[in-house]
Amino acid sequence: MTDNQDLIDLVRTIPDYPKPGIQFRDVSTLLLDGPAFRRTIDRMIALVDPDSFDVIAGIEARGFIVSAAMSYALEKGKVMLRKPGKLPGKAVSIDYALEYGSDRIEMHVDAIQPGQRVLLVDDLLATGGTAMAGVELLRGQGAIVSQALFIVDLPDLGGAQKLSAAGVKPLALMA
Ligand code: PRP
Ligand code: HPA
Repeated sequence: MTDNQDLIDLVRTIPDYPKPGIQFRDVSTLLLDGPAFRRTIDRMIALVDPDSFDVIAGIEARGFIVSAAMSYALEKGKVMLRKPGKLPGKAVSIDYALEYGSDRIEMHVDAIQPGQRVLLVDDLLATGGTAMAGVELLRGQGAIVSQALFIVDLPDLGGAQKLSAAGVKPLALMA
């Protein structure tokens, strides 16, 4: 059995969502299975050295689910990278391209202390546009970002290569 086959089996593929030609890998079916969700978080934690980062940054919305569970388990602070217009304090923002459109994420300017080591976490890596935007936002505020962790990597879409080229090691439970 391939590593994590039990989890791979719970991620369904929905063709032509949200646009024709896109094969959408849907983690909602994995999240519905409580023990499998727990195994997902435990195995994501096992892929990293908790001493190698100070805080965890999660990307809204699906990224919050996994990053918050990791923050809880590891007692690491959680930086929220949010979709536009949600943050009440002074924020910085960045626009980015997605596999199926474009978007913007924002972060409070005081969410990061310069020199803090940040683990970036999201549910899925596709083109890497979202993750790279997160890396730029965090680095722009003085963070050190050297690793990013996902449940799913879609290697054909090139996100892992983009992250590696930017000095960020991509880690995922399944490709
Ligand atoms: C999805 C996914 C990642 C991103 C991956 O989020 O959760 O954040 O796309 O794509 P990329 O590597 O091509 O950037 P989406 O923007 O659909 O938002 P959601 O989490 O709010 O559903
Ligand atoms: N699944 C979930 N989110 C995504 C995908 C996908 O296939 N592609 C880009 N974001």
